Amino acid sequence: MAIEYIDEAPSYEEYMEMRREVNFMKLSERIARNALNNAFHITTVRDNGRAVGMIRVLSDGSYANFITDVMVIPDYQRRGIGKELMRRTVEYMKSTMEPGETIILYLMSAIGKEEFYKQFGFRTRPNEVWGAGMSQWITKSPE
Ligand SMILES: CC(C)(COP(=O)(O)OP(=O)(O)OC[C@H]1O[C@@H](n2cnc3c(N)ncnc32)[C@H](O)[C@@H]1OP(=O)(O)O)[C@@H](O)C(=O)NCCC(=O)NCCS
Repeated sequence: MAIEYIDEAPSYEEYMEMRREVNFMKLSERIARNALNNAFHITTVRDNGRAVGMIRVLSDGSYANFITDVMVIPDYQRRGIGKELMRRTVEYMKSTMEPGETIILYLMSAIGKEEFYKQFGFRTRPNEVWGAGMSQWITKSPE
């Protein structure tokens, strides 16, 4: 196995295939391509060229940073790849900062993945500092 971590987006086809492998919602081609093109930072994991995992950061380029699409396809899970993706991403975000500065990293854990993220310092919400994280899907009806 020749695992590589490459700070570039996967292709649209690879992205859709990885999403399918981990049972993430199917996206329209337009939404998926924009998601790849407009991310702040993406790392793709490749095994002999094949895309087997990825992570994306959405950002204002400064304070507010949202980690999403943390994916390792099932055959490659539990080998430390997800952990390495998170480690590299946090290190990358630190590289955008000046000494003494503070920024915030957000993410929404999938059900049951909270323990995975806690090891990187993320805290579940609500807690004594922050209210609950909140989200919704919005869908535009077909015309
Ligand atoms: C979550 C995910 C990215 C983790 O990637 P991974 O490569 O399997 O994780 P790793 O092998 O790096 O695991 C790292 C550590 O987390 C632990 N871990 C992994 N999944 C865990 C889980 N569900 N619950 C608790 N601990 C977990 C591992 O035991 C390991 O611990 P260790 O370092 O003490 O040995 C992967 O399971 C995945 O893609 N799942 C499907 C998509 C998904 O749900 N993504 C999250 C969206 S929020």
